[in-house]
Amino acid sequence: MTDALPLRRRPRRLRASDGIRQLVRETRLHPSNLVAPLFLKPAGPPEPVPSMPRVFRRNPSDLLAECRALANLGIPGAAVFPCIDPALKDAQGTEALNPKGLLQTTITDIKSALPDFLLFTDVALDPYTTHGHDGVLDVSGHDVDNDRTVAILSRMAVVQAEAGVDFVAPSDMMDGRIGAIREALDAAGHHRTGILAYSVKFASSYYGPFREAVGSKASAGTALLDKRTYQMDPANPREAMLEARLDEDQGADILMVKPAGPYLDIIARLRQRTELPVAAYQVSGEYAQIHAAAQLGWLDYERARDESLLAIRRAGADMILTYFAAEAAEALSH
Ligand code: PBG
Repeated sequence: MTDALPLRRRPRRLRASDGIRQLVRETRLHPSNLVAPLFLKPAGPPEPVPSMPRVFRRNPSDLLAECRALANLGIPGAAVFPCIDPALKDAQGTEALNPKGLLQTTITDIKSALPDFLLFTDVALDPYTTHGHDGVLDVSGHDVDNDRTVAILSRMAVVQAEAGVDFVAPSDMMDGRIGAIREALDAAGHHRTGILAYSVKFASSYYGPFREAVGSKASAGTALLDKRTYQMDPANPREAMLEARLDEDQGADILMVKPAGPYLDIIARLRQRTELPVAAYQVSGEYAQIHAAAQLGWLDYERARDESLLAIRRAGADMILTYFAAEAAEALSH
């Protein structure tokens, strides 16, 4: 006789050692689930992004070296974001269509050096416009003109496909852009170029550090660039499913939810509604807040990092765009 409780089922038996915890683990993070967002600048030494510790803007040859290191860690690809010389920006984002522009030439060089390493490029005008919006403004000057923007983005996608990118990633949230881009790519013979759609992109406060990194915040001249007429209201899960369905119907290959951590319910719901791969973007502000709390000694950095990524996988994301990619992959390899 012992005085143990008469329990048939004791869930703690399956948590008693590292070995059994590994065997019963339901969700795993692996380097092959990760995509690294990278910042590209025209020239000069690596420049730290103040609100994103350990993240740097790099020149084309340093960026190639970074891609090689990521590939060696087992990370399948990177999303490349250009920081454009302010002198090249205008209200129309004209530089986005330059076949010899910084992003395009860099993509071509990386793909020729590392043909198996996947590259994703944003289709949106914000790195190229003086006002920092993702499209061109309408006659009122207060809102983004949907249909004129879609026409420009379709050309932008073709220019990127010509440079050799594997997937274009429309991040602008204009209505109808996935269908228009698919049609433009196909008409130009780029059937093999895929579309990673930022399908459910919320008007989020968590993009602040990214806007600092690409300089779209400074050029807008305002601390709070308001994109609420095109990015989604964080309150709307049903509308999120509608946006995703429209992109699926228009030919998107992968559907993305962004941000990730504060929107796990959206990722989980979308995973149940679509047969397409689901991506999630753990954005700059999610990265910054873990670093900030760790710097204050308020969180264990590595555990918070790994837990944040595992949670996004558990919600149902097949792949995660994350600034932690290299570090997390390295941690997983030993
Ligand atoms: C721009 C774009 C943004 C991000 C990716 N593409 C910012 C925005 O919409 O203003 C944010 C990424 C991040 O915060 O890490 N189209």
